[in-house]
Amino acid sequence: MKRILVTGGTGYIGSHTCVELIQAGYEVIIMDNLYNSSIAVLDRIEQIAGTKPKFYRTDLLDKEGLERIFAENEIDAVIHFAGYKAVGESVQIPMTYYENNIAGSLNLYRAMDNAGVKKLVFSSSATVYGDPESVPIREDFKTHTTNPYGSTKLMNEMILADICTSDPEWSVLLLRYFNPIGAHRSGLLGEVPNGIPNNLVPYIARVANGTLDYLRVWGNDYPTPDGTGVRDYIHVVDLAKGHIKAVEYAFGHPGCERINLGTGNGYSVLEVLHAYEKACGRELPYRIMDRRPGDIAECWADTEKAERLLGWKAQYNIDDMCEDSWRFTVNNPDGIK
Ligand code: WQD
Repeated sequence: MKRILVTGGTGYIGSHTCVELIQAGYEVIIMDNLYNSSIAVLDRIEQIAGTKPKFYRTDLLDKEGLERIFAENEIDAVIHFAGYKAVGESVQIPMTYYENNIAGSLNLYRAMDNAGVKKLVFSSSATVYGDPESVPIREDFKTHTTNPYGSTKLMNEMILADICTSDPEWSVLLLRYFNPIGAHRSGLLGEVPNGIPNNLVPYIARVANGTLDYLRVWGNDYPTPDGTGVRDYIHVVDLAKGHIKAVEYAFGHPGCERINLGTGNGYSVLEVLHAYEKACGRELPYRIMDRRPGDIAECWADTEKAERLLGWKAQYNIDDMCEDSWRFTVNNPDGIK
């Protein structure tokens, strides 16, 4: 049985990926500092998948802690989710973001190399494309970041590409996520943002359960069908399944590949809002506001490479995503404790 270390495994995408890994027959070890997640997620993973992953409460900046994990476990590959991920916050505290997301990740890569573990799937983001010249976006498009969070993603990609160039034994998959939303169908796992959500669907979920009054729609004067921003929303379970395919690919292919994980479909803010209204069974109030600084008009993925290389294609539609998000919200009004 192959053993996978999942950093950030109690987080939103990480926890869903651990479920899929276990169900695909892998042994899972989770490393997380619990800064942005709860240890109770381990029990939820066990409830769904029947196995409770071995857990290390370790921070990326704890070199000795990282070495210990590799010394105590025969690890075959790593999926690296751990990192700070709030765009706005990264603008306020860039040094914290660079220290954690770059220096911390380098500690992980060094510990891997010292232990001879040279297969890695990295959690990157479509944010590395900046404002694309056209859509759909292909992996060979120019990259351009506009905030420290996005820059840490791109810098990790560059570091990992250079590691692969220096040592042909390394296999690295750089997975560029579009907009992950939704929750596990069981209602046991989902997104639990800290404080007031910045992202669209977690915010809509709070309007739907009455904890926020109305959705602020950031601009309706974009060059899009209804004037509101268009994004490629992908179900978090589709995203998790993409990671299983990526791990399998890494075991058979050395080198470094950048791969988009999206659906190839774009939905506007208002289309998502109306899908959520269907899911929760009531009209959701909103107000049109000015554009949010740094937002782009539209962004969706060209999914050809993921289909060709990984044999992976997203299966869930926007209604599935909203229904599963709403079920999790109803079942976990106070998040996962
Ligand atoms: C989506 C659309 C907003 C909130 C961000 C990060 C990116 C990635 C995914 C990590 C936009 C509109 C939103 C609201 C709104 N994260 N919106 N009212 O900005 O596409 O991407 O999350 O990798 O790095 O930048 O996602 O959900 O914030 O916004 O009108 O209250 O919804 O203007 O058009 P975004 P988002």
